[in-house]
Amino acid sequence: MSSVCVDLLNPIAMAGHQPVLLSEALAFLNPCSHTKLLDCTFGGGGHARSFLNAAPGTTVTALDCDPEASSRAVALEAEFGPRFRFQDLNFGQLDRLEESGFGCVLFDLGLSSFQLDVAERGFSFRLEGPADMRLDPRVGQSASEFLEKAPKEEIVRAIRNFGEEKRWRRVVGAILSARGTGVLSNTSRLAALIASVAGNRPPRTTRIHPATKSFQGIRLAVNRELENLEFALPIAFAKLAPGGVMVVISFHSLEDRLVKRFFRRMAGKAEHSGDSLPEQLRHRRANLPMNRPIRPGEEEVARNPRSRSARLRALQKLEIESNGIEV
Ligand SMILES: C[S@@+](CC[C@H](N)C(=O)[O-])C[C@H]1O[C@@H](n2cnc3c(N)ncnc32)[C@H](O)[C@@H]1O
Repeated sequence: MSSVCVDLLNPIAMAGHQPVLLSEALAFLNPCSHTKLLDCTFGGGGHARSFLNAAPGTTVTALDCDPEASSRAVALEAEFGPRFRFQDLNFGQLDRLEESGFGCVLFDLGLSSFQLDVAERGFSFRLEGPADMRLDPRVGQSASEFLEKAPKEEIVRAIRNFGEEKRWRRVVGAILSARGTGVLSNTSRLAALIASVAGNRPPRTTRIHPATKSFQGIRLAVNRELENLEFALPIAFAKLAPGGVMVVISFHSLEDRLVKRFFRRMAGKAEHSGDSLPEQLRHRRANLPMNRPIRPGEEEVARNPRSRSARLRALQKLEIESNGIEV
């Protein structure tokens, strides 16, 4: 894959959110002349704006399910006119997007700083606020409603499976015991509760706050983040034009595993070491330009510590499927 046509990768002075792995993403997306990008996670528009600035005639269709993102999109609509279009849509409903034939698709998963840094959104255990954690507060259950009402198995799934919290039994027990007390409705009190049972780790593992993993697991459960991604990846791939490129930046090992397996499947490779599907049943529909994900360098992590867990993977759709069928 070639490099970006026009180098305009200056990390824009975006108040609030610094786009992660920007130059690396643009190098794969390669925005030349009339390339059409589907940005499934608009956020603050950092990646979208750089794509539009990189070459004349590029166009972006951007989605985000957070209603706050729509107001940020207005600035790009004013600046780029018909080259930029925003749709208030969860990529878990990507089948509702009619447009297709994109040269590139981007998913930059997780949260933007606009969401993390606002106490009222309830994502951060460092800020006192309502334990909400919804990407789209117009729908579904808030985190506190989920923790108060969900069956125990769903709480276990959030804390053990999604949060990968080793002390999940203690955390789940503490959550269930705190039901009805008001503790589960407030980020600081919820974080203190979790820390009281998951804290006191050996020194090597105490660098992160003891509520980090549980908060992440609860957020993934409340927003059905893995389910939405699993649903969206094949639809996004179908919306790629032949030869088009998909880039996914993930921040969680479970998201990355989903992406890795989907990309390997599209490339006609075994999805994991236990995948025994016979070779003749595999269809190669894409090229995998790399085996390992790209991680941010030391300089980016120093400048933007939130980038530290980012992993970028890319996939290029074949012009023609390996069995001769046009993709
Ligand atoms: C990391 S931010 C993207 C930042 C963006 N690339 C930028 O440079 O400003 C992730 C964004 O994706 C959005 N998002 C996460 N899951 C989503 C989903 N299922 N559907 C639509 N948007 C989603 C979040 O609301 C958030 O605004």
